[in-house]
Amino acid sequence: MSLLPADLFEGQGVFITGGGSGINLAIAHAFAAHGAAVGICGRTQTTLDTARAELETHGHAVFAATADVRDAEALAAVIDEAGQALGGLRHLVCGAAGNFVAPAEAMSPKGFKTVVDIDLIGAYNAAHAAYAQLAERGGSILFISGGQSYVPFKYQAHVGAAKAGIDMLMRDLALEWSGRGIRVNSLVPGPVQGTEGMRRLSPDGDEAFWAELVPMGRLARAEEIGQMAVVLASPLASFVSGALLPVDGGQNLTGSALFNQQVERLVAGGASGRPSP
Ligand code: COA
Repeated sequence: MSLLPADLFEGQGVFITGGGSGINLAIAHAFAAHGAAVGICGRTQTTLDTARAELETHGHAVFAATADVRDAEALAAVIDEAGQALGGLRHLVCGAAGNFVAPAEAMSPKGFKTVVDIDLIGAYNAAHAAYAQLAERGGSILFISGGQSYVPFKYQAHVGAAKAGIDMLMRDLALEWSGRGIRVNSLVPGPVQGTEGMRRLSPDGDEAFWAELVPMGRLARAEEIGQMAVVLASPLASFVSGALLPVDGGQNLTGSALFNQQVERLVAGGASGRPSP
């Protein structure tokens, strides 16, 4: 049960890239549960259809459309359409991301670029496309960063480069746009239960393995990331802009040694993090 009012975002449109699944869907639920009209995009229609049906149970308008964040023109068209369907956007969450585990020398330049294109360029594409709507009404942008942006993690060179870029993009946009009524911040989720990423990294599907990495001794529930996204978009954070907030039970304090050991085992065992067909 939320401690925040159910009508906190009544009459406000929120757009979430990658909102059809995982942490981003939890963020979409958290906004919808507090009265927001929610728009989501992703690459897979069936995933979006399922997410839309779930989000509609909150009783507010939902918009869902396929768009790849790497296609700036298509994404801008979908963000415009979402604004029209939802009565104008007040908040944007740039959550779309790609990841796989690969030694830097073993991934192709195209593989490296693919993750930078999705995570970093895709986040910029979304912010650029939503700017006019957010500036007109005032609101916020939330980027989803990663611990890889400030701690080196083995076999995550592409992700580290992309997330570090996002952190600086967040600060640059906060500097340029805060005076125009758009607060810009980033969340750094720790390991989250039940996500695609954790499934791939966990030996024999045992996600609890990763609790050792977290001073709080457990993984996050996706709704805990959602609730902090909502707080940062809400008037509770009315003077917060340019902030990078870990929501990770203290994981950023422990370094990457356990992760590095585990991915070395995974890669030695032949796992590449490549999606199963
Ligand atoms: N290891 C090494 N290289 C990989 C890879 C892996 N596990 N997965 C993708 N790549 C490389 C491909 O080899 C290709 O480069 P190449 O043509 O030189 O070989 C390049 O990345 C693009 O791959 P492709 O599958 O065509 O791209 P895509 O745009 O369809 O998807 C990802 C890219 C990153 C999204 C894909 O890996 C993926 O589906 N990941 C799982 C979902 C996910 O990341 N969820 C988010 C978790 S945070």
